[in-house]
Amino acid sequence: MTEFKTVDDLRVKGKRVLVRADLNVPMKDGRIGDATRIERTAPGLIELADKGAKVIVISHLGRPGGRVDDGLSLRPVADALSRALDGRRVAFAGDCIGMQAETAVAAMNEGDVVLLENLRFHPGEELNDAAFAARLAALGDVYVNDAFSTAHRAHASTEAVARLLPSAAGRLMQAELDTLAKILGNPDRPVVAVVGGAKISTKMGVLGNLSGKMDQLIIGGAMANTFLHARGVDVGRSLCEPDMAEAAHDIEAAARAAGCEMVLPKDAVVASELKEGVACETVSLGSVPADAMILDVGPATVADLKERIEGCRTLLWNGPLGAFEVSPFDAGTTEVARAVARLSAGGGLLSVAGGGDTVAALVRAGVVDEFSYVTTAGGAFLEWLEGKTLPGVAALGA
Ligand code: 3PG
Repeated sequence: MTEFKTVDDLRVKGKRVLVRADLNVPMKDGRIGDATRIERTAPGLIELADKGAKVIVISHLGRPGGRVDDGLSLRPVADALSRALDGRRVAFAGDCIGMQAETAVAAMNEGDVVLLENLRFHPGEELNDAAFAARLAALGDVYVNDAFSTAHRAHASTEAVARLLPSAAGRLMQAELDTLAKILGNPDRPVVAVVGGAKISTKMGVLGNLSGKMDQLIIGGAMANTFLHARGVDVGRSLCEPDMAEAAHDIEAAARAAGCEMVLPKDAVVASELKEGVACETVSLGSVPADAMILDVGPATVADLKERIEGCRTLLWNGPLGAFEVSPFDAGTTEVARAVARLSAGGGLLSVAGGGDTVAALVRAGVVDEFSYVTTAGGAFLEWLEGKTLPGVAALGA
């Protein structure tokens, strides 16, 4: 785990503080679909402004590929950020380097907030280009990275710039790193991971790393079908990766060697197709009809998982247990998520969840605020679960 400084280690009064935030929010026709990332960034910015910093916020939005794309301008985010900052004014500069940025920063007083235009309008950002990073660094006296969700990218604003200015983790980054370090590094045991989703091929690194650290590894979603198939269970027409059978065996063997119990579904809800309201039935595994698809875990599995989780102190969740976007195949994920939420609210369980589909499933289950911690990071969360060093975090320890 990289040691890093926090905002407490920086003197910010009267200083130009360059804050790398992740304001990469879903946007359509200039309207923000989900402002969670903006709202979570706000308290850290308020703290800096209240301490008398000149707060210069930088972020990317989407993937414009190093070119100006008006549809991916951060301008609409400035108003949303102002609302999240309790109505404080957020000035906007139409470029993140050069004259527009320099003029906006030169006009700042203590406590002011400026948002600069999308970093990825410049090719130097994604290239981690030293000259581009130097131009960003010239705008600030100190650098704060509050964007854990982009820490897996070695970009100029997340990596190179951290080496040019006194640097620290922002409050959000600090909370993410503290929580995640506890879960994988020093969890209260028993510790269990719930890993779902479609394919094991996309989560090999995650499964490999977790099998060495967890007491139980619960597998759900279509990736469970691949493990079942590898064990010789007929999964009918279910989504499955037959060519990953050997990989599935290897993960099971690694888990066994590390004393981690792999938990697969006991029963399944099956249907002929993935469609809202389609006729479905519950079958035990071993009795999946040849023309049916497994679309959710069944009630016996839900009961088993609830009992297991009840005995745990720490839980990590990434990936839904079934095809949760389509009713009634959200039932298994919803019921287990509600059980986790209840135990977390009671204080007996530390629960951490992350990943786009996972957060959407928890929102659908109405429990996203009842987990102990839900990260808005997607790719960064997965790479961290794989045990990788994230460049944006490593640079803070430089
Ligand atoms: C995310 O949404 O996961 C982060 O903002 C990173 O975005 P990227 O995958 O385009 O680098």
